Amino acid sequence: MKKHNFSAGPCILPAEVMKKASDAVLELDGIGLSLIEISHRSKEFVAIMEKARSLALELLGLEGKGYQALYLQGGASLQFPMLAYNLLENKAGYLNTGTWSSNALKEAKIIGNAVEVASSKDKNFNFIPKGFDIPADLDYLHLTSNNTIFGTQIKDFPSTNVPLVCDMSSDIFSRQLDFSKFDLIYAGAQKNMGPAGTTLVVIKEDLLGKVTRKIPSMLNYQVHIGKDSMFNTPAVFPVYVCMLTLQWLKDMGGIAAIEEINEKKAKLIYSEIDLNPLFQGFAAKEDRSNMNATFTLKDEKLKDTFDAMWKEAGINGLNGHRSVGGYRASMYNALTLESVGVLVDVMSDLERKA
Ligand SMILES: Cc1ncc(COP(=O)(O)O)c(C=O)c1O
Repeated sequence: MKKHNFSAGPCILPAEVMKKASDAVLELDGIGLSLIEISHRSKEFVAIMEKARSLALELLGLEGKGYQALYLQGGASLQFPMLAYNLLENKAGYLNTGTWSSNALKEAKIIGNAVEVASSKDKNFNFIPKGFDIPADLDYLHLTSNNTIFGTQIKDFPSTNVPLVCDMSSDIFSRQLDFSKFDLIYAGAQKNMGPAGTTLVVIKEDLLGKVTRKIPSMLNYQVHIGKDSMFNTPAVFPVYVCMLTLQWLKDMGGIAAIEEINEKKAKLIYSEIDLNPLFQGFAAKEDRSNMNATFTLKDEKLKDTFDAMWKEAGINGLNGHRSVGGYRASMYNALTLESVGVLVDVMSDLERKA
């Protein structure tokens, strides 16, 4: 039986995408060859890459608005120094809302003058700082839209004339936003898009070409744009799966349709966390993530019983990150409302038993 997969990433993908992807490993669309044994320069793969790029822009509402979509390698972590290499000339600002933002800032500091504009570190990142000053002379302000580990999510993005750069690794394509507010968006594939191995980078082209430093080709967004995201051999299988997932999302009605389901899932789990006296939420209520719900047991003595119960119910991947402890229910796009219902039932069963 397929488990209810609450893993934080790599994580659940839509079942029909998994089926099509596994078929393509054996034979791609009746061509007598596997997806992973054809040239990335073949007309079949060039069409896949083009579709993956255009679907990303279409779903984000960014087609024809001066943006380019790239599928790069090195994970979201390579974007931390890469974006600074391409954009940081004088000063960059970072909103520090968790481990990933801290890492992004640390890497940018190697490249140039990167400063923290605000932080929630003093409260173990359980909230999103608001109303902080944004220096007008920043080359860009870096944000992390969703903090995978701590379970917080930015609901209102700062309004500023400073270019916005956003790590959307763990909530891209999950909710409607005015994506044209952002000048650069990046996201590792392994949550809402596909397997690990590729990173979507969406860039407003007029942001580029302003730094004076020389940029190695593999780290240069303009080089990748000039080669239609095929400067070197792309991660063909992950890009193919991303294309399938984005097509799946488009067919179901796009981001608006999945957002509605994501909101139902989040409401269901958070109301159980709030009503069940055995549990307590980690993140500040107004900043709670719709993707990663973090919570703890008030009485640690119930841990073994609860762990045995959710495992018995076929649930996978519920353990919290070591920096928060407790539990984390990751509810990415492909996780069904039914799976969240199974978890909520286990939590209320525990209340009855305790
Ligand atoms: C918000 C966020 N940013 C960055 C990363 C790092 O991604 P990668 O492992 O692809 O480098 C993660 C990984 O979970 C993440 O959740």
